Amino acid sequence: MNILVIQGPNLHLLGRRDPAIYGDATLKQLNADIKKHAASLGFKVRVFQSNCEGAIIDLLTANADWADALVINPGAYTHYSYAIRDAIEGLGLPAVEVHLSDIAKREPFRRVSVIKPVCLAQFKGEGPVSYFKALDYCASIKE
Ligand code: DQA
Repeated sequence: MNILVIQGPNLHLLGRRDPAIYGDATLKQLNADIKKHAASLGFKVRVFQSNCEGAIIDLLTANADWADALVINPGAYTHYSYAIRDAIEGLGLPAVEVHLSDIAKREPFRRVSVIKPVCLAQFKGEGPVSYFKALDYCASIKE
């Protein structure tokens, strides 16, 4: 399977940003672990990070024909980006939403995901393991 992984806004700050919530690992370390887990499942992965809504939509569009599934941590766009939501729906990419933190147990504005309705599953609150579970889930939809 070819898996497109999109890391949304401010995830480039991992390691520095709120370690009590997001952990100590940098984005580089997290992405390396994602690639390792994907390789163990026999997947090819493309991993991108962007802080821009339109750039994320362009990445989704540019990689939609290559990807069999999308794993996305939309960052704060989770809570209000109808544009990213519509892109996922419009491209028809099987998508899995991921969060390092448990958005259901944080501030009220984080408890809403406008992305969730266009995703097959959501994994949250387990740090990097949320991503590994999302990849495992992709393996399960292949069967
Ligand atoms: C996040 C949760 C979002 O609310 C936040 O804006 C992020 C990271 C997470 O991975 O826990 O940037 O998506």
